[in-house]
Amino acid sequence: MQPTPTLVRDGDAVVILDQRRLPFHTERCRLESLEAVATAITTMQVRGAPLIGATAAFGVAIALHTDASDARLAHALATLAGTRPTAVNLHWALGRMRERLEGLSEDFRHEAAWEEAQAIACSDFETCAAIGHFGVELLQNLAQRRSGQVRVMTHCNAGWLATMGAGTALAPVYEAMARDIPVHVLVSETRPRNQGLLTQWELARAGVPHTLIADNAAGLLIARTEVDIVITGADRVAANGDTANKIGTYLKALAAFDHDVPFYIAAPLSTVDFSCRAGEEIPIEERDGDEVLTFTGMDERGQPGRLRLAPAETRVANPAFDITPARLISGIITEYGICAATALDSMRTNPPV
Ligand code: MRU
Repeated sequence: MQPTPTLVRDGDAVVILDQRRLPFHTERCRLESLEAVATAITTMQVRGAPLIGATAAFGVAIALHTDASDARLAHALATLAGTRPTAVNLHWALGRMRERLEGLSEDFRHEAAWEEAQAIACSDFETCAAIGHFGVELLQNLAQRRSGQVRVMTHCNAGWLATMGAGTALAPVYEAMARDIPVHVLVSETRPRNQGLLTQWELARAGVPHTLIADNAAGLLIARTEVDIVITGADRVAANGDTANKIGTYLKALAAFDHDVPFYIAAPLSTVDFSCRAGEEIPIEERDGDEVLTFTGMDERGQPGRLRLAPAETRVANPAFDITPARLISGIITEYGICAATALDSMRTNPPV
């Protein structure tokens, strides 16, 4: 389920959907240089852990267009690695590019870079489908236990806009729709960057029943037994299962735990950082305070605009992600199946075939 590709190759460039313009405008943007790709990731024209990884991989290919020397490759890898700190798929994808390209002669590097980037994109597409396949079982089971729609709460955007395929957290939802399992998605707005509005836009286009809620409404709805399951994506999962995801995820996990509502993370194994032993080792991105002090929307005449919510000199803290401890996570939906958050290592060493 990816009605509009998030990223496609166009000659020696890529064309992306500019996510800063959504949900009001569907605009494409051609990225023709390493700098343009790095800026697109930093400014969140592209966003979501798997899509960031794939975009960075294509960024390496673009960077090698006229110069495929060792120095240029090292510069491209370092530039892209510095764009965003938390989503580990970025480093995973750059690691794959390094491994494929470093030992190659310069003459073959440029073409090999495109091939590897394309392979990363294709595997993400398949990974999303597999996550949907395994995750839908949870929704199927809930549907059998209750009459009416299965009420799924999510956070941020972990749908097709965040990946090269159907998404991570939303892949089971799209699969449920395909199987006629009745679902209703509770979408939290996800201040300050409002990725929930991207989820709302996606779900509306796909005809998935949904309700947009303020972030702060999640606890009440969970307490009132109006939520059957919470599924979110992840930006980095530590070896012990502690999970970094968009700020606000932790509060949803706490409320879900307190009310015995299952809380699942949907993420590919490339989002697991086995070199990070626990959540406190995951770097948390701190973003510009202006994201909290302003709000971007559309006025009554359909004109996009930015409103100031508090004086510019206001002191702001704007951590972009939080850590949900493994003990609050019912399971992790991966492309190999669902496992306990504390059993990731066995999933890595013995992935079911
Ligand atoms: O800051 P963003 O928009 O890149 O953060 C995205 C998220 O936190 C997603 O929920 C996460 O990357 C999962 S993506 C499938």
